[in-house]
Amino acid sequence: MSITTRRADLADLDLLHDLAARTFGLATPAGTRQSDIDAFIARHLSAESFRRYLSDPERIILIAAEDGVPVGYSMLVRGPIADPDVAKVVDAATSIELSKFYLAPHRHGSGVAATLMAATLSEAMATGAAHCWLGVNQQNERAGRFYAKQGFEVVGVKRFLVGDVWHDDHVRMRALVSA
Ligand SMILES: CC(C)(COP(=O)(O)OP(=O)(O)OC[C@H]1O[C@@H](n2cnc3c(N)ncnc32)[C@H](O)[C@@H]1OP(=O)(O)O)[C@@H](O)C(=O)NCCC(=O)NCCS
Repeated sequence: MSITTRRADLADLDLLHDLAARTFGLATPAGTRQSDIDAFIARHLSAESFRRYLSDPERIILIAAEDGVPVGYSMLVRGPIADPDVAKVVDAATSIELSKFYLAPHRHGSGVAATLMAATLSEAMATGAAHCWLGVNQQNERAGRFYAKQGFEVVGVKRFLVGDVWHDDHVRMRALVSA
């Protein structure tokens, strides 16, 4: 299997929406209502949302593919931090957010996540940021374990709105250093 990563562009809107719609719910706790997941996807992960993200110079979206078939994506976001819980523990001037990191379920545990993370951190470093931070649901043990392996330490907590329900996240952060 050949794993490749590349920057997404405007030709990828439908592909990104499809990947995002298939994977977003995997990051939410058991018991999350499908209607809340659907509302989040409609509001933040539509093809139109991805058109906005891809047109924003402060964002970088990467796609991971296996033998040419897209199996995951990530999104980095630079800029001010609106969430006061995050602003307490992250310096926006020197940091970049890993806002999305999702892999199709049949590729979990395959090593693709590590490849996509390496490419994502390399893009993050190229922006000049010194740290990368993210939010992850506190009950998402698989992702928490993966991020811990990737050097992201818990530095705080925040809340995250899915549909009508607030979820509890960990804020994790790591330094960006050259290999
Ligand atoms: C998060 C994600 C990218 C990680 O990729 P992955 O291929 O699953 O990661 P890995 O298999 O390398 O690492 C996961 C670790 O969690 C462990 N794990 C698996 N299920 C677990 C569980 N239920 N509880 C605790 N740990 C678990 C695995 O054994 C592995 O640890 P190990 O390498 O020490 O054995 C992928 O699972 C994913 O896309 N999940 C759905 C979307 C998501 O949650 N994204 C994060 C949003 S913030």
